[in-house]
Amino acid sequence: MRTTPMAPQCGVEISGVRLATCNDAEMQAIKQAIYERGVAVFRDQEFTPEQHIDFAHRWGGIDINNYFPLQDEYPEIAIVRKAADQQTNIGGAWHTDHSYDQIPAMGSILVARLLPPEGGDTLFAHMGAAYDNLPDELKAEIEGLEAFHTADHVYKADGLYAQTDMGRDLRGQDMKTGAVHPVVIRHPVTGRKLLYVNSAFTIHFVGQTREESLPLLRRLFDAAVGEDNQCRVEWRPGTVAIWDNRTTWHNALNDYQGHAREMHRITLSGEALAA
Ligand code: OGA
Ligand code: MN
Repeated sequence: MRTTPMAPQCGVEISGVRLATCNDAEMQAIKQAIYERGVAVFRDQEFTPEQHIDFAHRWGGIDINNYFPLQDEYPEIAIVRKAADQQTNIGGAWHTDHSYDQIPAMGSILVARLLPPEGGDTLFAHMGAAYDNLPDELKAEIEGLEAFHTADHVYKADGLYAQTDMGRDLRGQDMKTGAVHPVVIRHPVTGRKLLYVNSAFTIHFVGQTREESLPLLRRLFDAAVGEDNQCRVEWRPGTVAIWDNRTTWHNALNDYQGHAREMHRITLSGEALAA
């Protein structure tokens, strides 16, 4: 097994391993690489739905996404699909998955099933690098703060997606979500400090209104997606990417209008987060 960094601070490409049949030592090394680098890319994988599910179980539990369509035969697998005639994609802005849950998902295993001829890359940004690069006075300002996260403005009947042509495909318009997390968490395995607010789901700091929170939130959001923190996943047939939602944000580029794209996602259960 060989690991090659994708960018200085974020991402790793792992070759010489077949996910469907990897041994326990390889599995351990893969997990560690993802916890540290945030996202790992694997090429030329054969990964049937059953193998996708079996591999996910080697991490622990599976979280069922409340909103995306699920595969009929395998409800563990969420379908992240944009049809050729749809304008809006899923995940087309910087975010991290499920931060609106009190026990947010650890990460996701995304398998490319149908790709546009060009485009449709996914950007990732590393929240350990983002935190480290904050000026000292900003680090001091956020020390001990907590923030409120929800997905209601995104997925509810009057939410962002409902006003687009993706609305017809999504479920869960009547769900209500909300969670409070520290603004700076420690990675549960590596112990590294990570910035844990995101521009999709973090609404305000605890004890402050949205208006009061926005100036500082915006400074943090801008710092999070600094070019130095990023890497770019270019999908090819057979590509699988696995990411850590605590360590990274991601952003699915929507630059392939007129073409379909379909990815299969299994969401891995996480654990409560602490400062
Ligand atoms: C997701 C997501 C990214 C992509 O599945 O959570 O944001 O590139 N998808 O499809
Ligand atoms: Mn996502």
